[in-house]
Amino acid sequence: MKYSKVKDLLAGTLVNTEVGVRGWVRTFRNNQFIALNDGSTINNIQCVVDFENTDETTLKRITTGAALQLHGTLVESQGAGQKFEVQVTRLEILGDSDAEKFPMQPKKHSLEFLRENAHLRVRTNAFGAIMRVRSALAFAIHQYFREKGFVYVHTPVITGADAEGAGEMFQVTSLNLDQIPRKEDGTINYKEDFFGKHTNLTVSGQLEAETYAMALGQVYTFGPTFRAENSNTSRHLAEFWMIEPEVAFNDLHDNMDLAEDFIRYVIKYTLDHCEDDIAFLESRLLDEEKSKPQAERSEMKLREKLNFVLENNFKRVSYTEAIDILKNSKPNKNKKFAYVIEEWGADLQSEHERYLVEKHFKSPVILFDYPANIKAFYMRLNEDGKTVRAMDILFPGIGEIVGGSQREERYEVLVEKMEKLGIDQEELWWYLDTRRFGSAIHSGFGLGFERLVLFVTGMSNIRDVIPFPRTPQNAEF
Ligand code: 4AD
Ligand code: MG
Repeated sequence: MKYSKVKDLLAGTLVNTEVGVRGWVRTFRNNQFIALNDGSTINNIQCVVDFENTDETTLKRITTGAALQLHGTLVESQGAGQKFEVQVTRLEILGDSDAEKFPMQPKKHSLEFLRENAHLRVRTNAFGAIMRVRSALAFAIHQYFREKGFVYVHTPVITGADAEGAGEMFQVTSLNLDQIPRKEDGTINYKEDFFGKHTNLTVSGQLEAETYAMALGQVYTFGPTFRAENSNTSRHLAEFWMIEPEVAFNDLHDNMDLAEDFIRYVIKYTLDHCEDDIAFLESRLLDEEKSKPQAERSEMKLREKLNFVLENNFKRVSYTEAIDILKNSKPNKNKKFAYVIEEWGADLQSEHERYLVEKHFKSPVILFDYPANIKAFYMRLNEDGKTVRAMDILFPGIGEIVGGSQREERYEVLVEKMEKLGIDQEELWWYLDTRRFGSAIHSGFGLGFERLVLFVTGMSNIRDVIPFPRTPQNAEF
């Protein structure tokens, strides 16, 4: 017997035929109606049990969470709420689920509770929807780059380079703790840990991707990256996925065009392919908004927000213009920001980013030409000698979703910058080679995958859009 997916049964093409289906019980009502879900869709199939001809013990074992295998006839449903249902003729319990002990009760659980049960939360409607949307977004990303002729490059997870120069790396060692060479004072000699070489988990695949762009033209990475920053915010993870395109001969404005086109494409793909999930997440969000005070409620529904991004160009604003806007903003004058902007040269805090996006421009914003001293060493220095061709894309409710730049392609300028910042040229000799042999202008960016999933699902905590979040408190399983 071939088993069908719930999604296909609900499409109705198999109506009035014998079908088989396997899945997990969401609810069981009146000893008769099973709502069965198999993960193929947010929707359940109603399976009607002939309870008069089913023994008591079996009926008792149909509990929330149990795995079942059913056979019966797919018929048009007489009841309200569903178009089709299965009239069950044969039912097998594949795996029991003790109703008293199963943590995922058929009721609304708090997100905090669900985070503690990351292995079971995917059995709820919300997490099923989020993870299907996440998967569709990942697919759309590969499809976009494939259509544009990019080559997918797998950059290493274990590396000697600190791409961002921010020192937020997890150290990697091949040795047991007691074998790691120690200095005289007993501290670990990190220079000699990974087969005699100092290594860490990658913070970004950019530097390696740049070397590939210098041969393959257009490349992208899509993989896990790691930051040992002790940030307990709803926007930071210690392990997150990043998409990093890198394109030879692109300048900063080409880079902005690419980022905008790319983000639109993947959002549109998801709206077109995950209708039911997005509709569910939208109604979930509406419920959540209702519990907030009026003034804090979002003005736009989820799909309106996503369509807004599709229909409107992102505002392109230089850092210098943004500082002027912030300096003259009411909250700044009333000192309402956690960190007040007084001086050109200050890094923007998320309060500032959100003010620009949510209050001033009311649109996604691309900020560019940042002061050189608040950005990474590899960014192209502008003619003014004090700003670099950096760009950050800021999104409503999220803040920074993309960070990118045109890269410094001039060997001497790059070396001088590295010297100034104390970046080891010997360690990055291979990176410098790209500037010694056939250097050309090139640009790229990094999109934080979970921040994109946050935006598209309307969730508000990054821990809720990755299956097993790694944060300073949680890397348990
Ligand atoms: O701005 P970042 O640090 O830029 C880079 O790593 C560059 N090498 C990218 C490039 O040009 N190829 O990180 C890029 C994006 C951020 O905009 C943010 O969306 C995300 O990665 N990100 C994080 N997401 C979750 N948790 C964290 N701790 C993150 N740190 C950065
Ligand atoms: Mg950044």
